[in-house]
Amino acid sequence: MSGSKVDGELVVRKIEADFSEAKINWLPSDPELAQFWNAVSIGLPMLEGHLIRALARAKKHLPAEREDLFADCELFCQQEANHTKAHLKFNEKVAESGFYPEIDTHLSRLKADYVRYDKEMDLRFCMHYAEGFETVGPILAEYFLVQANRRLTEKDVDLVTLSLWRWHLSEEYEHRCCAFNVVEALYGSYWGRVHGIVKAMSHLLGFAIPLSEYMLRQDVEAGRIDGGIRGRWRKFRSYMGMTTFIVPRVLRAFSPWYNPINLKPPKGCDEVLEIASQTLSLNKMAERAYETV
Ligand SMILES: [Fe+2]
Ligand SMILES: [Fe+2]
Repeated sequence: MSGSKVDGELVVRKIEADFSEAKINWLPSDPELAQFWNAVSIGLPMLEGHLIRALARAKKHLPAEREDLFADCELFCQQEANHTKAHLKFNEKVAESGFYPEIDTHLSRLKADYVRYDKEMDLRFCMHYAEGFETVGPILAEYFLVQANRRLTEKDVDLVTLSLWRWHLSEEYEHRCCAFNVVEALYGSYWGRVHGIVKAMSHLLGFAIPLSEYMLRQDVEAGRIDGGIRGRWRKFRSYMGMTTFIVPRVLRAFSPWYNPINLKPPKGCDEVLEIASQTLSLNKMAERAYETV
């Protein structure tokens, strides 16, 4: 696949990933931040599975003249499936370490939620949930690409894991309009959109924070990282950094005039996607990570 694309067109990149040399603590200066994103990674395959099922169902209800949107839904689902495959490989690495035996307990609670959504909630709920998550996606992309660009030059940063997030979240920016357009075509409800954002964010955080706290406790007990005041201070800084960056942007997305088409690409996003298209490999992206600083 070449790196060129028609403006606005979604590109499906089947990315190879070898995490055998990757580190679970991929950001040694900020293990609390690394574990927060590791916890998100662990939940993503289930979350993205839910999004794929919602979009795959929703596309069948689109008006006949929205062939463009139908095609977007298919590309969206393929992109999300590729994200899931890559995250599963990273998650396997975390599970194989044996450091965190209670991950499965956290995952089974998340799974129970999605089984319930599939059974009890209608497509309208599932699509607004998907739209809510997809609203946060490009914000996280911007946060992550800005932070990542600052952290690329830090000592001992694991560039393969960093490349996983840089590629994934750049594609979240790329397909940011799909769920929004589907919801607009099928429902067009402002309050449904607001509720979807709140629901998706609180659901994701309700999973990721307790899991990352558990993983950090295990790390401190085993002496892999230092806890105490230094650990609490790092966590406070990391969480404050994320909150002050993300919350105002989410609030802006509550505007009735919000449309993700108007969001500018985060710095480095186009370059990351270009290199992803050329290499189709996280390991090769890692080798070229400094080109996008
Ligand atoms: Fe994704
Ligand atoms: Fe997405």
